[in-house]
Amino acid sequence: MMFGVSPGWPVVLVDGQVSLRPYRRSDATAWAEVRRANQEWLAPWESSPPGPWAELNSPSAFRYVHRDQRRSARRGESMPFAVCFRGHLVGHLNLGNIVRRAFCSAYVGYWVDSRVAGQGIIPTALALAVDHAFGPGGLHRVEVNIRPENKPSRRVVEKLGFREEAYHPRYMHIDGAWRDHIGYAMTSEEVAADGGLLARWHRLRAPAG
Ligand SMILES: CC(C)(COP(=O)(O)OP(=O)(O)OC[C@H]1O[C@@H](n2cnc3c(N)ncnc32)[C@H](O)[C@@H]1OP(=O)(O)O)[C@@H](O)C(=O)NCCC(=O)NCCS
Repeated sequence: MMFGVSPGWPVVLVDGQVSLRPYRRSDATAWAEVRRANQEWLAPWESSPPGPWAELNSPSAFRYVHRDQRRSARRGESMPFAVCFRGHLVGHLNLGNIVRRAFCSAYVGYWVDSRVAGQGIIPTALALAVDHAFGPGGLHRVEVNIRPENKPSRRVVEKLGFREEAYHPRYMHIDGAWRDHIGYAMTSEEVAADGGLLARWHRLRAPAG
């Protein structure tokens, strides 16, 4: 198969009230508001550079975050999506560390505003992103690494049927220490029979009967 340097990018993905799209410069204010309102919710699960949260997540800091995201996406190393709910920016999902050739794999990271948590926004976003990765994105495998203590995030991947495949001791420096992570993964063959991950997720969510 022939691909450009960043196959499948840029793109907008939509399912009902949830959409994924590339960030824009004009997201600075909304991004800073949601990041600043969620410090306690996000800090235990993110690796972040040293410095005060309010400064690292200011509208002007977004300029640098956005520039780095665009560079990495242009090089084909990532697909950084703004996650929107009813048209408002409420979260983030990144297909990152994309390696092609014989690996064709990406790591996924995500978060959502605590004020809209528990409505299935990130499972929907993850299903959209995985189907895109396995289709136009030309990838074969996606991986999510999660701290054992992060029950909500583990629920997200377990509901979607990711395979628990590894335990990584002292894997990432997060919230002041080297933290263990559980590795979950999925390959394209594992969802092909379901017609994709979004179709699987819709079936799982449909009321029984
Ligand atoms: C993990 C996270 C992205 C899940 O997103 P989401 O859109 O709320 O996902 P869901 O709606 O499927 O909820 C997942 C689980 O969260 C829990 N949950 C539900 N409502 C919640 C709430 N208001 N507050 C906290 N947890 C809640 C439930 O256990 C739910 O599982 P269930 O469907 O079996 O009940 C979100 O909790 C988050 O952003 N957390 C902070 C950042 C983070 O952990 N990122 C991932 C790092 S690996």
